[in-house]
Amino acid sequence: MQGLDGKTALVTGAGSGIGRASARRFAAEGAAVVVADVDADGGAETVDLIEDDGGDATFVEVDVSDLESVQGMVDAAVDEYGSLEFAHNNAGILTSFEDVTTLEEVDWDRLLDINLKGIWACLQAELPVMADNGGGAIVNTASESALVGMPGLASYSASKHGVVGLTKSVALEYATRGVRVNAIAPGPTETNIAANLEVSDEADELPFDMSAMSDVPMDRMATPEDMAGAVAFLCSEDASYVTGHCLPVDGGQHAD
Ligand SMILES: NC(=O)c1ccc[n+]([C@@H]2O[C@H](COP(=O)([O-])OP(=O)(O)OC[C@H]3O[C@@H](n4cnc5c(N)ncnc54)[C@H](O)[C@@H]3O)[C@@H](O)[C@H]2O)c1
Repeated sequence: MQGLDGKTALVTGAGSGIGRASARRFAAEGAAVVVADVDADGGAETVDLIEDDGGDATFVEVDVSDLESVQGMVDAAVDEYGSLEFAHNNAGILTSFEDVTTLEEVDWDRLLDINLKGIWACLQAELPVMADNGGGAIVNTASESALVGMPGLASYSASKHGVVGLTKSVALEYATRGVRVNAIAPGPTETNIAANLEVSDEADELPFDMSAMSDVPMDRMATPEDMAGAVAFLCSEDASYVTGHCLPVDGGQHAD
């Protein structure tokens, strides 16, 4: 893909799933990659995979919900590689499947802090570096639940709707400053996130139909590599006139 070779890309949540595939794809396209994650073991594994493939990667530990930690991540990226042209702000969690009225405040806060404030923190640290050094491109990971409501996943859906609003607003703020900002909205993707989903004791009794979540016209779940291809495209020169967009990568789910 045009325009990625020789540049620097930062990927959060790169210790697993979609972030790992995205980091590996950036490296395969010739970019040096900053693999950022709160999970040091997962991050180290991703670096090993990239190096085994002949790529260049460095791990930086980060908690995206902490602005100071995020600023340190971007500083470390620039110290290591001298520049930052691309960022995939991807770290996110999915914690509970339950009625909105039983959702604990602490769980609401934690999810919003990682999934939404975390994207804001990344943008705040990345944008000045990119704008002051010739521009760049950013992709934020939203979700299919950024585009429609998800019964049982109100906090997650709210956080991802927020990611799209943030993406569009910041894209407009930076449209004339050389930084494109887009989002992807993955459909159901084969990663660890569902395995970590906590289901409350009352969930079986909830009157929710979750079948829409797994009903995919292409009749398969997405792979993390499906997402990585979309991220690489949105960062590439082929997407040079694309900004403020949220691209569903969902096997046709939202064509229904
Ligand atoms: N898998 C799906 O079906 C799906 C669908 C739509 C959207 N998404 C989104 O894709 C993104 C990636 O999820 P995934 O499916 O690859 O899940 P995953 O659990 O495999 O990967 C998420 C990564 O984020 C990291 N992380 C969590 N909290 C963090 C924090 N505070 N700071 C830094 N890193 C942190 C985890 O350690 C993990 O490595 C998330 O934003 C998720 O909401 C996933």
